[in-house]
Parts: sequence; C-alpha cells; structure tokens
Amino acid sequence: MADTTYISQLIEGKGPVKALQSLAGQFHGEIVFSTSFGWEDQVITHMIFANNIPIKVFTLETGRLFPETYYVWNRTMEIYGKPVHAYYPVHQLLEDMVNTKGPNSFYESVDNRKECCGIRKIEPLKRALVGNQCWITGIRAEQSTNREDMSNVEWDEGNQLIKFHPIFSWTLDEVKAYIKEYNIPYNTLHDKGFPSIGCLPCTRAVQPGEDFRAGRWWWEDQSKKECGLHAIELNDLKE
Ligand code: ADX
Ligand code: SF4
Repeated sequence: MADTTYISQLIEGKGPVKALQSLAGQFHGEIVFSTSFGWEDQVITHMIFANNIPIKVFTLETGRLFPETYYVWNRTMEIYGKPVHAYYPVHQLLEDMVNTKGPNSFYESVDNRKECCGIRKIEPLKRALVGNQCWITGIRAEQSTNREDMSNVEWDEGNQLIKFHPIFSWTLDEVKAYIKEYNIPYNTLHDKGFPSIGCLPCTRAVQPGEDFRAGRWWWEDQSKKECGLHAIELNDLKE
C-alpha cells in the first residue's frame, strides 16, 4: 500500500493537474473526489473532467443544500457531460431522527447537530470512500488556522486511505482567477458573502474581514465547528 512519503515524492514539483493524473495512474479505479460545489471544488472538478482524468466525483446530498448549489451541480453536469455521483442518507435513520426530533433539531444542541451531520454526511461519506485508496478534497490551508497545520498529502487513519488536497496552497485570489480564466460555473452565493457553503440551515454570509468559516454553524462555540468529515481536524480540536 502506498504511503504518504511515496505519494509526496510521486507528485513533487507537479502542478495539480499532473498530480491528479499521477495519482489516478497510481490508484486506478480506487480514487475519488468529494465535491460540495464550492469554488475550490469547482476548480478541481474542472481539472478532472476537462482532462478526462479517471477519478470518480461524488457529493454528499444531505437534502438540505441551497437552491444555488443544486443549480451549479446541474450546470456542471450539463457543461462537462459527466456525472457527479450523489450519496444520500439512509432513509430509515433520517426518518427516525426527524420523526423524533423534528426537521431542525441541529439548532438545539451540539449533540443533535452532530447526529444530523452523522446521518446526512458521515455515514454516506463512509459508503462513498469504502474500497478506495485515495480521497481528493478541495481543502485549502488558508481556510482556517486548523487547516494551516495540515499538509497536502495526509494519511486518514479513520478511513484508512491517503487524502490529497490538490490546491492546498492556493490563495482565494488564485482560485477566483482560475474560475475566471476557464469560465467554470460556480455557486453565486460566493458573490453574496458566503466564502464557505454547506447546508442551507447551517450556513450564513460573513461580514468583510470575518473568518472564512464564521458563517458555518454560527450559533455554536468556535471550538466545535467541524462536521467530522475531516476527522484529523476534529482530533486536533479536541487537544
Ligand atoms: S466541512 O467539513 O466544513 O463540511 P468544507 O465545506 O470546508 O468541509 O469543505 C472541505 C472539503 O470537504 C470540500 O472541498 C469537499 O471536498 C468536502 N466536502 C464538504 N462538504 C461536502 C459534501 N456535502 N459533499 C462532498 N464533499 C464535501
Ligand atoms: Fe444537518 Fe446542518 Fe450538518 Fe447539514 S450541516 S448535515 S443540516 S447539521
């Protein structure tokens, strides 16, 4: 099994497209990219689709996304003529939660919020990742102080695979310039003060100068604001 040192060497000095191509060759058929249709993810989706790189693109369809997100998802499939595979929550788990606690239980406690993220995102993510050796994400170092300490290639102990963040060191301006240069469809909420976009009830716009992630689960204590998709960060936060 490839380790992080080997993978780091394999992609050393390569730009994101060449790195993605190398990894697709290395992990053929066992490499996936998760998109939430934010502009970082749209950059990577473009790299994969426009260059026909054999990496499966998937999204976790929580059922609570913004209309703008569904629009950009649809537009992306139209433009590139390729699918973005949706993973849905297990309906029984969702029905049990909503029937017991109502549709907006996540506002009531951190435990309820984590339960909702667990059912709508984490369980589907596990299914999306099973059988794969490499998971690509759109994480950038600049997005939070916590992410600054990460690296572009990581070992994900919980999911037992390599994680690779192809545009980890890009600035937001670089992301925007790339979107513009290649005329890539993007979520229009980004133009309305949403640097980070998750589920509709749990994301709001931020004020100029506020943290990138200030609009996510804004009612919660800062230290609890991760959904658990990226478990390394959660562990870091617990220390
Ligand atoms: S989160 O942990 O707070 O939800 P964030 O929104 O910053 O994550 O996105 C970071 C990366 O996680 C994205 O680039 C994408 O790879 C992945 N991701 C986040 N939300 C989803 C989703 N709903 N579906 C698929 N991937 C997602
Ligand atoms: Fe549920 Fe909010 Fe988590 Fe979405 S972000 S899965 S609505 S708690």
